[in-house]
Amino acid sequence: MRSLVLLLSLLLTAAPFGLLGEETRQVSLKVISDWLDPSQNLLHIQAVGATSTLHYVWGSLGPPAVLLVATNTPNSTLSVNWSLLISSEPDGGLMVLPKESIQFSSALVFTRLFEFDSTNTSDAAAKPPGKSYPPYSLADFSWDNITDSLDPATLSATFRGHPIHDPTGAFANGSLAFRVQAFSRSGRPAQPPRLLHTADTCQLEVDLVGVSPRGNRSLFGLEVATLGHGPDCPSVQEQRSIDDEYAPAVFQLDQLLWGSLPSGFMQWRPVAFSQKQGGRESAMPCQASSLYPTLAYLLPQSPIVRAFFGSQNYFCAFNLTFGASTGPGYWDQHYLSWSMLLGVGTPPVDALSSLVLGIVAVALGAPALMLLAGGVFLLLGRKWYSEYQPIN
Ligand SMILES: *[C@@H]1O[C@H](CO)[C@@H](O)[C@H](O)[C@H]1NC(C)=O
Ligand SMILES: *[C@@H]1O[C@H](CO)[C@@H](O)[C@H](O)[C@H]1NC(C)=O
Ligand SMILES: *[C@@H]1O[C@H](CO)[C@@H](O)[C@H](O)[C@H]1NC(C)=O
Ligand SMILES: *[C@@H]1O[C@H](CO)[C@@H](O)[C@H](O)[C@H]1NC(C)=O
Ligand SMILES: *[C@@H]1O[C@H](CO)[C@@H](O)[C@H](O)[C@H]1NC(C)=O
Ligand SMILES: *[C@@H]1O[C@H](CO)[C@@H](O)[C@H](O)[C@H]1NC(C)=O
Ligand SMILES: *[C@@H]1O[C@H](CO)[C@@H](O)[C@H](O)[C@H]1NC(C)=O
Repeated sequence: MRSLVLLLSLLLTAAPFGLLGEETRQVSLKVISDWLDPSQNLLHIQAVGATSTLHYVWGSLGPPAVLLVATNTPNSTLSVNWSLLISSEPDGGLMVLPKESIQFSSALVFTRLFEFDSTNTSDAAAKPPGKSYPPYSLADFSWDNITDSLDPATLSATFRGHPIHDPTGAFANGSLAFRVQAFSRSGRPAQPPRLLHTADTCQLEVDLVGVSPRGNRSLFGLEVATLGHGPDCPSVQEQRSIDDEYAPAVFQLDQLLWGSLPSGFMQWRPVAFSQKQGGRESAMPCQASSLYPTLAYLLPQSPIVRAFFGSQNYFCAFNLTFGASTGPGYWDQHYLSWSMLLGVGTPPVDALSSLVLGIVAVALGAPALMLLAGGVFLLLGRKWYSEYQPIN
């Protein structure tokens, strides 16, 4: 009975819904540089629809961060005051105009990269998953020229970085990369977990490649901070599915929601990959901790967030941990890749694949057919019997 209820609720949630956003958007990616110091720059993704504009502002001033701003006009613009933005009081250095057109805004900040020694941790769900090495603060990274990685054809760009001070040379042959991609219409990438995207979303792929781990069984984690609404933190929801067509053996979709829908969301499958050809053999679990309110001064500060939202903010943070001491891990090929979507409106939902629909139809259909056949048989049988009666 429970499984039937689950199945029905799945069918209901998978039913087509009216997308509150737009089918297609005119998307442009632009690097905005400080003309006094071109090494300071921002990546501005502007997605213009018929009645709305989304602005994603990515930057590596301080720790890597993104602002997400949705407006209800096709004409809103981003305004940057560099002298304010790079000053010690960046408040007001970033604005989206006209201000009244803003329907939703929030931000994510990627603050620290953790490394844990899982050698003696047999419990896969242990938190933390082992002894922590000193974390890498992403505010103290140096990032390659973003302009060189900008690809207008795929609407993507990559922030690739390494620590400014790297005494052990761990990053000598490696890097941490944040690959950002926008979309002008809905679709699905070729690489697992093949998250369904729409024109209202933007994808982030985090890749740790070639970095020397500090232990034989190192697990990595990423600390993510966001803005709370007042003292409350955004909620994290887990959605279950009976379909794993696009992400083999992963039956869960996690999402962080900033408010009641439609608002902003971050969405990911709880899986990361230890090889470039992401597949079942290289799939590692990705565990998310709960979101906790945290004091701004405990986190590396993002001038971008401060410039847009000012200094009076509530922050919440959580950790994502990739892999377990057993199974595939970063140690296999010194490779780790994880992706997520960021967007506004109603998060994309996978429709059930035709294979699963077929199985469901057969599973639900067979008993119904048998009942029907039985009913017809009984009816016919009774009739047969009653027709016999008079002869007797
Ligand atoms: C980044 O690369 C672009 C194009 O390759 C170049 O024009 C620009 O000067 C570079 N910026 C910096 C800070 O080196
Ligand atoms: C947006 O700008 C265009 C051209 O400047 C103008 O024709 C249009 O009315 C504007 N739309 C809104 C909603 O302000
Ligand atoms: C940037 O902000 C500073 C300080 O508020 C102000 O003096 C300056 O005029 C602003 N620049 C622009 C281009 O608006
Ligand atoms: C793991 O446990 C063994 C045996 O208890 C101990 O000798 C070793 O030092 C531990 N290693 C770490 C990294 O804690
Ligand atoms: C980096 O690569 C070079 C050449 O392949 C190699 O000699 C060196 O040991 C590597 N360094 C690290 C820290 O892996
Ligand atoms: C890693 O494994 C090698 C060989 O098994 C061992 O000699 C070495 O001590 C281990 N290193 C650490 C940091 O556990
Ligand atoms: C993330 O994990 C590290 C290491 O265990 C811990 O110090 C930090 O407080 C955690 N952050 C959050 C937001 O839970």
